[in-house]
Amino acid sequence: MPGERVIVLKFGGSVLADETALSDVVHEIYRWRREGFQVVAVVSAFYGTTDRLIAHAADLCPGADRETVAAIVSIGECESAAALGAVLDRAGTPATVLMPGAIGLHADGPADDACPVGLNTDLVRTALRRTGVVVIPGFVGHGHAAQPVVLGRGGSDLTAIYIAAQLQARCRLVKDVDALYEHDPKKPGPTPRRFVTANYDDELKLDAKAIQPKAVRFARSLGLPFELTGLNGTDPTVISNDPTVLADPPKKPRPLRVALLGFGAVGAGVYHHLARLGDAVEVTAVALRDPAKPRDIPVPDHLVTTDTLGAAASGVDIVIEAIGGTGIAGDAVEAALRAGSHVVTANKALLAERWDRLHELAEAHGVSILGSASVGGGVPMLEALASRPGHTPRSVRGVLNGTTNFVLDQIAEGVTPKDAITDAQQRGYAEADPSGDIDGHDAANKLCVIARTLGVALAPDAVVRDDFTEANLRAASAGAGGSDKAVVRQIGTLDLAGDTPAARVRLTALEPADPLFDIPGERNACVVEWDDGFLQTVRGRGAGRWPTSESVLADVLELLRRHAPNPDRAPARSAAHAR
Ligand code: NDP
Ligand code: HSE
Repeated sequence: MPGERVIVLKFGGSVLADETALSDVVHEIYRWRREGFQVVAVVSAFYGTTDRLIAHAADLCPGADRETVAAIVSIGECESAAALGAVLDRAGTPATVLMPGAIGLHADGPADDACPVGLNTDLVRTALRRTGVVVIPGFVGHGHAAQPVVLGRGGSDLTAIYIAAQLQARCRLVKDVDALYEHDPKKPGPTPRRFVTANYDDELKLDAKAIQPKAVRFARSLGLPFELTGLNGTDPTVISNDPTVLADPPKKPRPLRVALLGFGAVGAGVYHHLARLGDAVEVTAVALRDPAKPRDIPVPDHLVTTDTLGAAASGVDIVIEAIGGTGIAGDAVEAALRAGSHVVTANKALLAERWDRLHELAEAHGVSILGSASVGGGVPMLEALASRPGHTPRSVRGVLNGTTNFVLDQIAEGVTPKDAITDAQQRGYAEADPSGDIDGHDAANKLCVIARTLGVALAPDAVVRDDFTEANLRAASAGAGGSDKAVVRQIGTLDLAGDTPAARVRLTALEPADPLFDIPGERNACVVEWDDGFLQTVRGRGAGRWPTSESVLADVLELLRRHAPNPDRAPARSAAHAR
């Protein structure tokens, strides 16, 4: 995208306790993608790994030389980078993992304490354009003979600052504290003051080495400002040439109280993520239909309720609706808004049908209703529509239903439609009634939500649809004009060029040059055509537990950043419910 902003995010060992922490890192990366940034994620090894690998090198070869040790310890960052790539993929966020040798990250000096001196920025920028996210192992470079070298303990900070300097990008070090403090706030002793800004020289004088001193000196040599904060941080310390400003630490906000309605493919994934947010969030209730059903993600008995409307109306900070449909889910969302709760929902059927009513209720009660996951699953499509201030989209065209896309691929492989649909249901892609996916109703609802997000009224029954019949499939294939390379996809189109919006969901044969051609399985993508002719494509996984819960959680984290609850205000009344 023209002028796309780049942020380098560095995740240290304090954040990467182990592989389970990778999903926390994914939330942070997804946050910045939603805000329209291309993201370079620089990772340290998992906590304790470097020490373990140094000891391992000594076991293998007592007195091992520096290059030998560097070659062994470099594995730690490469392992965490590759694992992060996998967890980003699971969450539906496309990413490219780039090893330091491949991007010419040269470093000079001793093999255990080298300094970066070169980077092929073209390769990094190409990967950023391709997938939007690149993951690079921190700490590791390659020496004059292409051998692995490392940048000294804490060297991932230096990798991040060096890459940010080379790409002229914003740089944020993400640690296990919300800001830089005079001393480690987790250690006993008097409460330290917090740095609002820290001058490089003052930072270097601190006893607690929160940042690698070599990295701070490098930033100082270039006058490059950088930030330090925690996951979902809102108020980072900026380290720069500016004078130091200290402040008393802010009061810790009370936990955000959240009621979760629905515990199926999406809801259970959301609960898994909420439970990892520690004391930032208190889940007060989990409403579901059948408490006796076995669950693959455990939930404590005392949270479970079948009093869905009671949980919705309990006055908590946020109600998350992951039930689906326009029946009980609609009543629950309205009850939540009336009770003054923000609402997060993945429910496109409800948003398409009751957009005006729900938004009027939200406004009347001073709360928000967010529904990022309702379109595109883990693909930030609704955010893309707002990503070019001063411009408006002329049309939006996309693969908007993961189930149908998956089923069409399976049919092309010779699987029967019935078996393919059953498979999609088992994978958690399909709606409760999968005919809503296959016949285009779900994609039509998503076109309505897209239109509404752009301020254009569109009713679901105004969307022209192709039913999923043998005859329509044959006609779509014939539309390929005999090309054996074409694939049939269900394409939703919203055309805003005329006086009234025109929307359709059609089975269409696409040639390889079409940006929607290479979107396999449950993936979704859309192409936004802007008023200046620019074509913007966003893609990723559009259905399933992890992509969808990523997007729901991103809305929750956004509310947490906007409305961190005041610790002096009493929490909302209790949401204890009978089962
Ligand atoms: P599921 O069918 O897997 O889950 C629905 C959940 O709602 C179940 O936990 C069910 O309880 C619960 N439920 C049903 N009735 C009630 C009730 N009266 N009170 C409380 N809970 C109830 O659906 P999904 O998770 O797939 O979808 C949820 C929402 O997310 C839908 O709006 C869907 O369109 C949307 N969505 C789904 C995506 C996906 O990939 N699956 C992607 C994007 C959006 P129980 O478990 O006890 O039966
Ligand atoms: N059933 C929907 C689909 C879920 O398959 O796309 C994601 O909205």
